[in-house]
Amino acid sequence: MDTLLSVLLLVSTHFLGTQAAANATSGAKAIIIDTDIKDDVDDMGALAIANVLHNCGLCDLKAVMIDTHSHYGALAASVVNTYYGNGDIPIAAIRPLTNETFFDDAMWYRSEYASKVAYNWPRALESTNRTQPPSSLYRSLLQSADDDSLTIVSIGFLNNLAAVLNTTDGPDLISSKVHELVIMGGQYPSGWEFNFGYFDPASTTKVVTDWPRDVPITYLGFELGLNVISGDKLRDHAPSDSPILAAYEWYNGRCSTLRESWDPLTTLYGILGLDGFSSLGLKSPFTYANTIGYNSITSPNASNAWVNDSSVTNQHWLKLADGVSNTSVAWMLTQLYAHDPISQSCFG
Ligand SMILES: *[C@@H]1O[C@H](CO)[C@@H](O)[C@H](O)[C@H]1NC(C)=O
Ligand SMILES: *[C@@H]1O[C@H](CO)[C@@H](O)[C@H](O)[C@H]1NC(C)=O
Ligand SMILES: *[C@@H]1O[C@H](CO)[C@@H](O)[C@H](O)[C@H]1NC(C)=O
Ligand SMILES: *[C@@H]1O[C@H](CO)[C@@H](O)[C@H](O)[C@H]1NC(C)=O
Ligand SMILES: *[C@@H]1O[C@H](CO)[C@@H](O)[C@H](O)[C@H]1NC(C)=O
Ligand SMILES: *[C@@H]1O[C@H](CO)[C@@H](O)[C@H](O)[C@H]1NC(C)=O
Ligand SMILES: *[C@@H]1O[C@H](CO)[C@@H](O)[C@H](O)[C@H]1NC(C)=O
Repeated sequence: MDTLLSVLLLVSTHFLGTQAAANATSGAKAIIIDTDIKDDVDDMGALAIANVLHNCGLCDLKAVMIDTHSHYGALAASVVNTYYGNGDIPIAAIRPLTNETFFDDAMWYRSEYASKVAYNWPRALESTNRTQPPSSLYRSLLQSADDDSLTIVSIGFLNNLAAVLNTTDGPDLISSKVHELVIMGGQYPSGWEFNFGYFDPASTTKVVTDWPRDVPITYLGFELGLNVISGDKLRDHAPSDSPILAAYEWYNGRCSTLRESWDPLTTLYGILGLDGFSSLGLKSPFTYANTIGYNSITSPNASNAWVNDSSVTNQHWLKLADGVSNTSVAWMLTQLYAHDPISQSCFG
C-alpha cells in the first residue's frame, strides 16, 4: 500500500475516535462547492471527496452550486449527495436551464455521463427547476454564516461568484463571512486555462480582480491537475453500483477510468487546507508555490499572470510538496472516489 495513504488510514482511524467531540465543539469547516459538472468527470470525483469528508466530520458541506446551464448537472450532483446519504444538502442551479448534454468535439473519444447518472440512480432532487438560483442561495448562506467561517471551493466557471460580487452588499458580505476562496483555474505563474477562459472570461476577470483583498485566495492551476492522473483501476476498488465509477467509465470509455485531477485536488485542499493534514498528523501533499503577490488577468480571453508584489501575502498558488509523488496523491484520490458509503471508516 502506498505510504501516504497508509499513514492517512492509520492516523484517521485513530483520529476519528475523537472526531465527534471535536465536531461538536469547534464545528466542521463549512464548505460550498461551485461546479461545472457535466463536461468533465473530475467534478464527480470532487463531489465524492466532499461527501466522504463531510461524513467523516472533516467538513460541513453546506451547498453545491451549479454554474453550467444543463439541468442534468444538478441531478447528477444530487445523485452523488444521495448516494452518500446527504440528499438533503441544498443544490442551486444557474438559469436558464437547458437540456444540453456533453459531446466531445475536441478529442472525439469522451462521452456524456451526467444525464445517464441522473436517470439511473436514486436522487433526492426530483427536478432541477425546484432549485434556487445560486446567487440567492449564496446570499442567504453568507448572511446566516458566522464571520470568517465559509470556504468557497470553485471548480468550474466564475459566473455565480461574479453575480454575488456584483450585488450591492456582496463585497461586504464576502469580506466578513468568507474564510478563503479556493479556485481551480488559471495556469501558474502564467498562461491560459479552460475554467478561466472558455465560457465566461468577463466573470473570471471580475472575480480575480475585484474579490475583496482581505479574503485569502488559493489557486490550483492547470499544470498541477494535469500531472496527477487518478482513477486508475477504479472498478477494482469501488462498489460495483457506485455512480462515481459509472461516470468515470462512461466519460473515459474504452475500459479506462483515468483522468487528470484538477477538481478533486482543489476540493481536497479546500477542505483540509495545509494545516488540516498536519492536524491529522500528516505531511500535506500540497505547499504554496509563492510567498508574495497576486493573480492578474492579462487579456480579454482571461489569460492570467502572477504579479510579484511584496505587499500582498494572502494569495497563493499550489504545487505538490517536496518529496510527495504524483502517484501517491493520485492513489489517495482514487481511494476517496471508491469509498463505500456503507463503510464506517473515513478512508478505505
Ligand atoms: C460532524 O459534522 C458533520 C457536519 O455537521 C456531520 O455530517 C458529521 O456526521 C459529524 N461527524 C461526527 C463524527 O459526528
Ligand atoms: C427538456 O426536455 C424535457 C423532456 O425531457 C422537455 O419537457 C423540456 O421542454 C426540454 N427543455 C428545453 C429547454 O428544451
Ligand atoms: C419542472 O420539471 C418537471 C420535470 O422535468 C416538469 O414536469 C415541470 O413541467 C417543470 N416545471 C416548470 C415550471 O418548468
Ligand atoms: C453586474 O451588474 C451590472 C449592472 O447591474 C450588469 O450589467 C452586469 O451584467 C452584472 N454582471 C454580472 C456578472 O452579473
Ligand atoms: C506522474 O507524472 C508523470 C510525469 O508528468 C506522468 O508521466 C505520470 O503519468 C504521472 N503519474 C500519475 C499517477 O499521476
Ligand atoms: C489569449 O490572448 C493572449 C493575448 O491576446 C494571446 O497571446 C493568447 O494566445 C490567447 N490565448 C488563447 C488560448 O486564446
Ligand atoms: C516573481 O518572483 C519569482 C520568484 O522570485 C520569479 O521567479 C519570477 O520571475 C518573478 N516574476 C516576475 C513577473 O517578475
